[in-house]
Amino acid sequence: MKPKVLVTREVFDETLAFLAEHCEVDANQADVPLAPADLARRLADKQGMLCCLTDRVDDPLLAAAPALKVVANIAVGYNNIEVPACTARGVAVTNTPGVLDDSTADLAMALVLATARRITESEAYVRAGDWQGWHLKQMLGTDVHHATLGVFGMGRIGQAIAKRARGFDMRVLYHNRTRLDAATERAHGLEYRSKDALLAESDFVVLQVPYSPETHHMIAAAELKKMKRSAVLINSARGGVVDDAALIAALTAGTIRAAGLDVFEGEPKLNPGFLALKNVVLVPHIGSSTEATRRAMAMTAAKNAVAVLTGQRPPNLVNR
Ligand code: NAP
Ligand code: GLV
Repeated sequence: MKPKVLVTREVFDETLAFLAEHCEVDANQADVPLAPADLARRLADKQGMLCCLTDRVDDPLLAAAPALKVVANIAVGYNNIEVPACTARGVAVTNTPGVLDDSTADLAMALVLATARRITESEAYVRAGDWQGWHLKQMLGTDVHHATLGVFGMGRIGQAIAKRARGFDMRVLYHNRTRLDAATERAHGLEYRSKDALLAESDFVVLQVPYSPETHHMIAAAELKKMKRSAVLINSARGGVVDDAALIAALTAGTIRAAGLDVFEGEPKLNPGFLALKNVVLVPHIGSSTEATRRAMAMTAAKNAVAVLTGQRPPNLVNR
């Protein structure tokens, strides 16, 4: 008998075809997130689950799924999953590292460029019919080239961002809890800084850390005050890493120049204060959203699930 797998949100046809070679598949191709009670009901007889960062996997859900062996997240971040609870119940947790590094780094750089050069504000101005012609002081922005970029979270994606930044002749500072080895720093042209020094020296601060109790509100009012008034904050990590209310206050008061945000506290709802601000670029959590990358993420998750369900070690096991 084939193991049973629940796919909680819409995926690509080839993902389902691959899963169907090895499993009996129950797929929510309607792409409406399943309510917790529906998720629990449909998971009750399943050995595997392909889920998204919009699905909360906690101990009560696991208790309702006694046969579950694997939770395969279609994302690299897995803060939607209670990993210790999974481990305690013998459930493997997997993610999708690597396949989304370049696409997510491209989006982070897109936010750097869009904020610096006021792209969305300029576009809205042209679309509104307000453009009366060229003039010298129109939509003055700030230079990206030769500026200093500070990255919190110099991991896989952080390093892909640093590579792009070097193409713009940027100086790249970073902060991790653990300093990288000298060879990696040299290879990527990186300079290590304390958290406060990075905030004080950077023209662009990019957040690319996982969300955890430790990174919750790692950028709040006190940190924003330590940034240059001319600086820009980019959050391409997770909602909750930034205190959004404090950021709105800082953008309103001119404590920092601008922000570029892919992720929000409590998304898809966002603090309405952002909508009134011209100096913020807002996009709907599309960091990895290119067709090729999302296909690769879904297939990576499917391969992880099948590996566990066929008795092999999955390529991207998260449990320790
Ligand atoms: P990764 O390779 O594990 O890198 C994470 C980096 O963050 C590591 O260098 C880690 O270094 C650092 N870090 C962790 N906790 C920290 C802390 N408290 N203070 C400072 N640095 C800290 O992960 P990745 O693949 O690059 O992905 C990073 C995150 O990006 C994901 O977890 C996800 O939440 C987010 N993401 C968002 C999108 C999007 O669509 N916007 C797409 C992909 C990923 P230390 O352990 O030494 O501190
Ligand atoms: C997206 O946000 C991811 O963590 O993959």
